[in-house]
Amino acid sequence: MNQQDKNCLQIEKNIFLLNTENTSYMFRISEYGHLEHIHYGRKIDIKDCEAMALKRPIVYGDSLMYGNDDTYCLDVVPLEYSGTGRGDFRVSPIEIKCGNGSYTTDFRYKEYKIIDGDTRIKGLPNSYGANKTLEIILEDQEASLEISLYYAVYYDTDVITRRIELTNHDKRKAQIHKLMSLSLDIHEGDLKLMSFMGGWANEVKPQEDHLDVGEHVIATRVGFSSSRANPGFVLKKKTTLENYGEAWGFNLVYSGNHHSSISKDEHGNTRIMTGINPEDFCLELGRNESFATPEAIMTFSDKGLNGMSQHFHSFINEHIVRSAWKKKERPILINDWEAYMFDFNKTKLIALAKEAVSLGFELFVLDDGWFGKRNSDKAGLGDYSVNTKKLPGGIKALSEEIHKLGLKFGLWFEPEAINPDSDLYRAHPDWAMSESNREVIYGRNELLLDLTKKEVRDYIIDNVSRILDEGNVDYVKWDMNRQMAYKGGDYGHRYIVSLYEILDEIFTKRPHILFESCSSGGNRFDLGMLCYSPQIWSSDNTDAIERLRIQKSLSYLYPQSCMGAHVSAVPNAQTLRNVPLHTRFNVAAYGAFGYELDLTALSSLEKKEVKKQLAFYKQYRYLFQFGRFYRFDLDDENRESFEVCDEDKAIVSLYRKYCPAAPEADVLKAAGLAEGRYHIASRVYTLNIKQFGHLINFVTPIKVNADGLVVREAAKRLGMEVPSEEYEASANCLEQGIILNNTFLGTGYNPKIKLPCDYGSDMYIITKLSDPLMEEKQ
Ligand code: GLA
Repeated sequence: MNQQDKNCLQIEKNIFLLNTENTSYMFRISEYGHLEHIHYGRKIDIKDCEAMALKRPIVYGDSLMYGNDDTYCLDVVPLEYSGTGRGDFRVSPIEIKCGNGSYTTDFRYKEYKIIDGDTRIKGLPNSYGANKTLEIILEDQEASLEISLYYAVYYDTDVITRRIELTNHDKRKAQIHKLMSLSLDIHEGDLKLMSFMGGWANEVKPQEDHLDVGEHVIATRVGFSSSRANPGFVLKKKTTLENYGEAWGFNLVYSGNHHSSISKDEHGNTRIMTGINPEDFCLELGRNESFATPEAIMTFSDKGLNGMSQHFHSFINEHIVRSAWKKKERPILINDWEAYMFDFNKTKLIALAKEAVSLGFELFVLDDGWFGKRNSDKAGLGDYSVNTKKLPGGIKALSEEIHKLGLKFGLWFEPEAINPDSDLYRAHPDWAMSESNREVIYGRNELLLDLTKKEVRDYIIDNVSRILDEGNVDYVKWDMNRQMAYKGGDYGHRYIVSLYEILDEIFTKRPHILFESCSSGGNRFDLGMLCYSPQIWSSDNTDAIERLRIQKSLSYLYPQSCMGAHVSAVPNAQTLRNVPLHTRFNVAAYGAFGYELDLTALSSLEKKEVKKQLAFYKQYRYLFQFGRFYRFDLDDENRESFEVCDEDKAIVSLYRKYCPAAPEADVLKAAGLAEGRYHIASRVYTLNIKQFGHLINFVTPIKVNADGLVVREAAKRLGMEVPSEEYEASANCLEQGIILNNTFLGTGYNPKIKLPCDYGSDMYIITKLSDPLMEEKQ
């Protein structure tokens, strides 16, 4: 047993202490057998239990006293998992109609087990590689129910996961209406809640709420984890900042309807719960049958929001993402969707691929439109016959040609949906999800397939597998573009379990395939999907300025290696905004990087620029995808800054949304670097001369028309190279912020002046200088 395994769990008398490298989680068995939560936060000693426990020398005046004991009322005991109907009037994590017909439950300690490593959940994906898992079994003899609380400890990444398994021992059926994966009572009343709400093309809008007495709910009911409310959320102290203070992060390894509740009581205690959405949920358990909830994950950091996010990032990279692509650099891709949509043929695709090769791309992805009668989004979903008018020779021939050019080959699928105008629908209308006697409701002209039917699962597995193997496919984009018109009971859950079964069957056998999931952009950005797909398409919104917010919000919960991020054409297809090429690159580079535009339509100047961007990205790819990620408190809506770093290098970008006249000096901050001195140089890029309009006449020998043919033609080939700024500073100084050269003020120009523009940005490469003293010693 290694030292981490030894340290991660300590049990003395009635006290359980779970330790990760920087955090402690403690609870004990109370005098009545309930699990009493003591602490989740900074490291403590097991001897601190009594000091940290909530004191209860006497109950409040209106309390219901448990066991007629005036020191014990379930309403105020911080619990690891409560029941119902025994004096705890806070929101309950469980609602169950027991075999005996009652809704009352009261779970008390029976025994514990220690499991080396992790546990698997039947039918659901979960994290792997835990040091140890503690199982605590609680029972309610009157209700003939037993629950196992599982705590998996991930020492190295400061994460503890929790989940529940409930077993009915009554010979009569029990009905589960609500069973949360995690319930946690912390004695912290003055907290802020950060949640990530949104919608299509407008994912993960960060929202901050101060917790007053009452309940906050983050939930979805569209059948999927949904862009309306990401399942991940954060609690922080009022004073917590990006690099300072305490924060707790939570998430759920599940892709269906979820529900998190954060409620504060009048005594300053906060109850946190997360799990499957109980709304309209009902699942029956026969005698000795069990139900296992999805896994919830939690982390704590006293190093600010960045500290908390970095725990999540390393946990996801180490213990969620599987396949050969775990911590492996992702290829730079070109996707044809925003370039051609449905309007392509083999000649166009090969021309695009050839251009891609010459610029340095590594993966070619053919998106929607290659099968059935799919020339618009009105037909074809469900069919797998290749459209040989567009692609003579089929996928196999196209893939061979792409491979011969030296690129990997990727393909789009939307296997969970069906168009009524498809051969599949004509043959099996009953495979589509619908409610008899009611008119069907369409979303993007499609219906969902009923994945709970075995024949449907087999059809998808057989067809997708066949295409992948015949076409020698290296990358899959698995899309899903509609909401589930709600079906109650346990249907929604069974759909998700069926989806996981399909994904398991297809991808576990093909670990070499790089799998990117997608759902109208980021409509299923969750840890359940990340157990199968190492990356997820973050949003259908590819506007770089919007992406700053989307990628920043995602970074609170997910690492940059998971976020599909592409450079697209301007004006942007979603916002009509014209963001310069260098900023589009500077934003997409902090993700699983690619381009989604017609490379053949770029000017020769733009092609040169893209080629340089790709070469630069390859040089620092590991840092961009897997380096430690930092955000900064800039207190300025108009600016943003991202950093990725390891011990001795960093890449920091500064973004300006609009460019004011006579701006104040820009400050560059970099965190997380080892002590020492650093060289700082900005990445050289070329600005399009058209951007300067009539001002070009200040530097040209003859007067030219800014909109004329000469300038238009010159702009295709000539640009203005923005020279590198260079500085030197210590790590300490960089952490406080160094002051950069002046930006253009309209009073003249020299090469030291930074050239601003609306939606401008600069990327700085920070590398450690060798220490002359150390060198002398060697
Ligand atoms: C969805 C995806 C897009 C694209 C289209 C194709 O909207 O999010 O990226 O694949 O489908 O129809």
